[in-house]
Amino acid sequence: MDHFYDEYNHNVTLTFESEALAKQPGHVWVICRYNNQWLLTNHATRGLEFPGGKIEKGEQPKEAATREVWEETGAKIKSIQYIGQYTVSEKERTIIKSIYFAMIESIEKKDTYYETNGPILLDEIPNNIKEQDQFSFIMKDKVWQKTKDKIASLVKGKEELT
Ligand code: GTP
Repeated sequence: MDHFYDEYNHNVTLTFESEALAKQPGHVWVICRYNNQWLLTNHATRGLEFPGGKIEKGEQPKEAATREVWEETGAKIKSIQYIGQYTVSEKERTIIKSIYFAMIESIEKKDTYYETNGPILLDEIPNNIKEQDQFSFIMKDKVWQKTKDKIASLVKGKEELT
């Protein structure tokens, strides 16, 4: 388990053990790959980030992941796997987010992408992301750095991630 601070100095705890923090996360975050590219969404206020959001009442985390990816990018998922979980603690609340890795089947054009401006495909995510204003703060702490390494170690045939 890893402990560090995010861009707002909130305490973050990250684990790649199976559902180690909580069986019932409130949020999901979905790292998406499509045709050897990363698929992100352009959030209207936060900027570029992988799609995700709150799990709705009665929804399973994977269902929420599938729905959020569709809503924010128009993408249909081919396969999805659990990667890990992190908590972010603010003064009065702690959010619990499950991280998934999804391979994308197809991307459709839509009229609305909810609170985002829709899909963004990137060959690479820069290493100096902290200095890049177009990226969301949720991409700028160690969660993304460590998740990227974890996914690379899970994916057989490294060319899929290069
Ligand atoms: P409402 O409760 O509907 O108002 O949602 P919200 O806009 O407050 O956001 P949400 O519940 O998604 O998240 C609450 C807070 O947790 C945010 O203001 C962020 O500070 C923090 N947060 C959410 N997701 C992440 C994340 O992935 N990484 C980090 N570091 N912080 C996050």
